[in-house]
Amino acid sequence: MSTQNDMNAPFRGAPDWQQRYDDQSTRWERGALNPAFVHWQEVGAFEGIKSVIIPGCGRSPEPLAFARLGAHVTALDFAPTAAAFQKEVFENASIEACVEAVDVLAWRPDVPLDAVYDQTCLCAITPAVWQDYADQLHRWLRPGGRAFMLFMQTGKEGGPPFHSPLATMRDLFDDARWQWPDTPLYRSDHMNEKYELGAMLIRR
Ligand SMILES: C[S@@+](CC[C@H](N)C(=O)[O-])C[C@H]1O[C@@H](n2cnc3c(N)ncnc32)[C@H](O)[C@@H]1O
Repeated sequence: MSTQNDMNAPFRGAPDWQQRYDDQSTRWERGALNPAFVHWQEVGAFEGIKSVIIPGCGRSPEPLAFARLGAHVTALDFAPTAAAFQKEVFENASIEACVEAVDVLAWRPDVPLDAVYDQTCLCAITPAVWQDYADQLHRWLRPGGRAFMLFMQTGKEGGPPFHSPLATMRDLFDDARWQWPDTPLYRSDHMNEKYELGAMLIRR
């Protein structure tokens, strides 16, 4: 899949992600599928998804897991180590995928796709540009497309990861553009008392 990237645009996320990979300071990595991913798969929330974008994919196992479910995967991460890792994973599995080392705030797909899986990419981006990021997700998806969001809950100032309060998320992913679930959000516990709240949002 070709893309329309503005490679001259500055990266506006936190700038030190590649350094974290270099320093092997990647404590966010679970080494297993996120329990929310497993839950969504079990309840059939991924059914019918033919294409999925995974922004800030890092070295997570979910891109390959989505591909094994039959979706065409676009995995994005501006850290070269993360993109190279995912490329190798897909090559080793002999599965075709689009893996790009790009800024998610600048990247656009050629056509709107079916789903986005955001596993702690939003919380890695400075809140000053969260609106730009939410606008990107809306642009990337077709009407009726699904955004699987894992909103990081740290209860602390500063970041990354930046605390993503639900009230702020409800404003960012507003009712005019997104349909929120009626059911309680799925809680994925993380280390250091952090946890993520998983919500499947439908793009209007
Ligand atoms: C907390 S890590 C999560 C990685 C992965 N989703 C996981 O669950 O293991 C955040 C990732 O987002 C990437 N990232 C942060 N800002 C980005 C941006 N503006 N464009 C592309 N990738 C970005 C970082 O390089 C890092 O790999």
